[in-house]
Amino acid sequence: MGAILIFDSGLGGLTIYQHVRQALPNHRYRYLADSARFPYGELSPQALIDGCVALIQQQIEAEPVDLVVIACNSASTLVLEPLRAAIHCPVVGVVPAIKPAAAMSYSKVIGLLATPGTVKRAYTDELVAQFAADCELVRVGSSELVWLAEQKLAGKAVSRSELEPILAPFIQQQADVVVLGCTHFPLLRDEIAQVLGPRVRLVDSGAAIARRVSQLLGDVGTGSEKFDASYYYTGQTPDPQVWAFLQQQGFRCMEKWL
Ligand code: DGL
Repeated sequence: MGAILIFDSGLGGLTIYQHVRQALPNHRYRYLADSARFPYGELSPQALIDGCVALIQQQIEAEPVDLVVIACNSASTLVLEPLRAAIHCPVVGVVPAIKPAAAMSYSKVIGLLATPGTVKRAYTDELVAQFAADCELVRVGSSELVWLAEQKLAGKAVSRSELEPILAPFIQQQADVVVLGCTHFPLLRDEIAQVLGPRVRLVDSGAAIARRVSQLLGDVGTGSEKFDASYYYTGQTPDPQVWAFLQQQGFRCMEKWL
């Protein structure tokens, strides 16, 4: 049995890993964080596509996998097609949960909290046209929030005053559902919920992705196979505090990749 490769620009994909691992607890996991080029929300589309495809290809040539999860909205809204053409295993992408958000909204004003890249993608516009044509969409693109999520895992508290100006448009325009359209943002779910208040519901794609992965892999990983998880990264070595968090998540090995 191969492994499931979970890919992101940094630590955000761990929010997807947590859901997938819960669904397939005995599988083998490889996590690849392209920290050298973080944050992805600021990269040009071509740089993002070329870099992701090349890196994932190299990784799976070194160790074949059963399935790849692009646990990054900024990348998935661009790279799914070229990546599927370049590799020979199933690829699951994570894109903003616009469809459930539109269905859940009473006010028909929904928010999209994502990276500057994701909020302006054609892919996002298509999701909105297809599933939320009856809603007003408030788009907020923030790389600062991505940094704050990474810093939280490195042990730095995130203050309400840092979040308030970023989230203000959702309050001003009275969104009743906000899509966490970046995999880093569920790491700040409690802090975001505190600022937005109890009337605003937050949705992300984690549970849907876990269902999709289970569907594609069938029973593999739910039997007597043995769980193991390794963390690979490009760029800077994670802080000891981040490594402690990764160990809590089941990772036993951390290795610099390229
Ligand atoms: N976690 C990513 C996403 O879902 C990327 C964040 C970034 O690197 O800008 O969009």
